[in-house]
Parts: sequence; structure tokens; C-alpha cells
Amino acid sequence: MKTMLVTGGAGFIGGNFVYHVLKEYPDRRIVCVDSLTYAGNLSTLDTALKNERFVFIHKDIRDRDAMREVFAEYRPEVVVNFAAESHVDRSIVDPGLFLSTNIIGTQVLMDCCREFGAERFHQVSTDEVYGDLPLDRPDMFFTEDLPLKASSPYSASKASADLLVLAYHRTYGLPVTISRCSNNYGPYQFPEKLIPLMFINALEDKPLPVYGKGENVRDWLYVEDHCRAICMILDRGRSGEVYNVGGHNEMRNIDIVRMICDYLGKPYSLIEFVKDRKGHDLRYAIDPAKIKRELGWTPETKFADGIVKTLDWYLANRKWWEDIVSGEYKEYYKKMYEVNK
Ligand code: NAD
Ligand code: DAU
Repeated sequence: MKTMLVTGGAGFIGGNFVYHVLKEYPDRRIVCVDSLTYAGNLSTLDTALKNERFVFIHKDIRDRDAMREVFAEYRPEVVVNFAAESHVDRSIVDPGLFLSTNIIGTQVLMDCCREFGAERFHQVSTDEVYGDLPLDRPDMFFTEDLPLKASSPYSASKASADLLVLAYHRTYGLPVTISRCSNNYGPYQFPEKLIPLMFINALEDKPLPVYGKGENVRDWLYVEDHCRAICMILDRGRSGEVYNVGGHNEMRNIDIVRMICDYLGKPYSLIEFVKDRKGHDLRYAIDPAKIKRELGWTPETKFADGIVKTLDWYLANRKWWEDIVSGEYKEYYKKMYEVNK
């Protein structure tokens, strides 16, 4: 049985990845390390915790001694690093934490991989490292060979980590891969992000705060398709390579918000155009040709199906998000959205 160390498994994509691997790979044991920041929810892992192939360890990836102990005890062959501070808006308010977790945390994990001889370190990165594309150039896409050009402290921290991962490959010969995925949606996404935030607000007849004019474009991918892509990269991806992950599903923010109103039968008059995000990236659009050509990956979930599955999940799992929005999230929301009016 192979052991996979998954960091950030109590978060949105990491949690979905844990379930994907437990289901699809019966020969894998998962050791999950998560420090349970505001974005980490142990309740996301309730079902996994009952599985004998799953172990949860409440630790911080920046804690070198703790990580060395985890590697010494479990000797993971594969490490998949999801752990990160992931919200652009929070990085604009407080960049320091992003640099520390997203860069230093990655370094600590790679040092452990070197010391304990892991077969693969996989860094879960983002398309935001490429900066943005103009709104009026639908012919332009992000390809893996573009220079990094991050816009926010969050994306700069992810770009820095990517550079470090490639440097560890070149300098020390560490076997690494990087995936750069577009915006994910699906179950267990923290309510600070666009789709769950708008859904929960609309459900409660609260204003829907759209930044700027709502014309910014994101390229949405169902989270399960991202998880499948990472597994394919782990199985057959070439060491030292970067793989973009995305499914040509570009949508304007305003259209997403209107779609959520339609799903819930709520009026568009709930939409409130608020102050724009500082440095707001205009458009993301992935060219997934490389992962398709080399690994045969293509997305399986159409947006029309994935969004209904996602919104149905939020309706059916009220307790999961009500516990979150009734806690410290309230304070965050007040600070973030009252000043932005
Ligand atoms: P998330 O914020 O939902 O989850 C992050 C998880 O990491 C949480 O469980 C948190 O507790 C944990 N964590 C944070 N700091 C930690 C630390 N120092 N030590 C241990 N655990 C820590 O994030 P997400 O949206 O699931 O994103 C996961 C990864 O995927 C991130 O690296 C992000 O950059 C990347 N990514 C996200 C998207 C997206 O659309 N959400 C798209 C592409 C890439
Ligand atoms: O592209 C991948 C990235 O996608 C990941 O690396 C990040 O971790 C993830 O958070 C996401 O970043 P975005 O900034 O694109 O996601 P967010 O959900 O915060 O915002 C999506 C768009 O919606 C963006 O253009 C800003 C806008 N928005 C967001 C919020 C929270 C609003 O208009 N109003 C809002 O209240």
C-alpha cells in the first residue's frame, strides 16, 4: 500500500481530493496534514475519518520538526501540497501570512521530501501566477511557457513557491510536478469565495456584492475534474513539468451571480455593485492542450450539470456552512464588505 501525504485536506479542494483518492485508489493510504485555519473544517473529513486508510494530523506545514516527525513515521512516497492561504481578498489585507504559509511551508515540505526520499512532490498551484488576460482578446490563453506575472500578494506567493519547486528539481534533482488550475467550484468550498458567498447571501435575501461591473472573467472547473487531473499527473506526469488544468469554461462574474439568482428564484435587484478589488485580474483562461496531449485528461463535468450539483449540495448541507457563517466569518464579512461599499 502506497502512502500519500496530502496537506490542506480539510480545505475545499484537498477535501474533495481525499474522497477521490479513497474511492478510486484502494491501494493508497492517505496521511492528511492540516493546521485547521479558518478555512479548514474537520467536518469536511467526517466520512474519511472513519476509513482505516485515512489518518489525520493536526499540524502546520511550516513546523519543520513536526513535518520531520510525520515523514519519519509514515514515510510517504508521494506528497501533494494543497495547504495554502488561498483567498485573494485576504492577501490584500494581510500579505505576510501568505508568504509564510505558501512559500516557507512549501520549502519545509520539499526539504522533508529530500531528507526522507519521497518519490514525488506535487505542488497544487494556480492559473493566477500568469497574471491576467485582456477582456477583448478571446484568442489569448495561459500556456505553461508564459512568464510568471502575478497581480496579488496571494498569486505572488504561489508564483514564488512554483519557482522554488522548479529550483529544487534543478538543484537537488527532487522529483516534482506542478499543476496550475483555473477556478474550482463544487462541494465544501468556503463561503468567502464567489459561488458559495453569492448562493448563501441570495438564499438569505442579502445583497450580492459584485466587484466593479461584474465583467471580470473566470474559467470554472468542477473540483472533481481537478482532482482527476492531479491523479493523472501523479501517475504519468513527467518530473520537472508544469501542467495547466482547465476546461475552456469562461464566464463573467455577473452571469454566475444571475444564474444563482435564477436557480433560487431570487430577483436580480439583490445584486449590488461594490468597490472593485484592488489590482483585480480581468480574465483567466487556461489552454489545457498539454495535459490533454500528454495524459489524455479532459474535463468530464459540464458547467450546467456541475453548478446544479454544487448548489444542490449547499442546499442539502446547510449545517456544514451554517456552522461557518455563524462564527468568526461574520466579523470577516462585516470588515470586508462594509468598507468596500
Ligand atoms: P482552502 O482555503 O479551502 O483550503 C486550504 C487548507 O489549507 C485549509 O484546510 C487550511 O486549514 C489549510 N492550511 C492553511 N495553512 C496551513 C498550514 N500552514 N499548515 C497546514 N495546513 C494549512 O483552499 P482551496 O481553495 O482548497 O485551495 C487548495 C489549493 O489549491 C491552494 O494551494 C490553492 O492555491 C490552490 N488552487 C485553488 C483554486 C480554487 O479555485 N480554489 C484553484 C487553483 C488552485
Ligand atoms: O484561478 C484560481 C484561483 O481562483 C485560486 O488560485 C484562488 O485560490 C481562488 O480563490 C480563486 O481566486 P479568485 O479571486 O478568482 O476567486 P474568488 O471566488 O475570490 O472571486 C472570483 C471572482 O468574483 C473574482 O473576479 C472576484 C469576484 N468577486 C468575488 C467575491 C468574493 C465578487 O465580485 N464579489 C465577491 O464578493
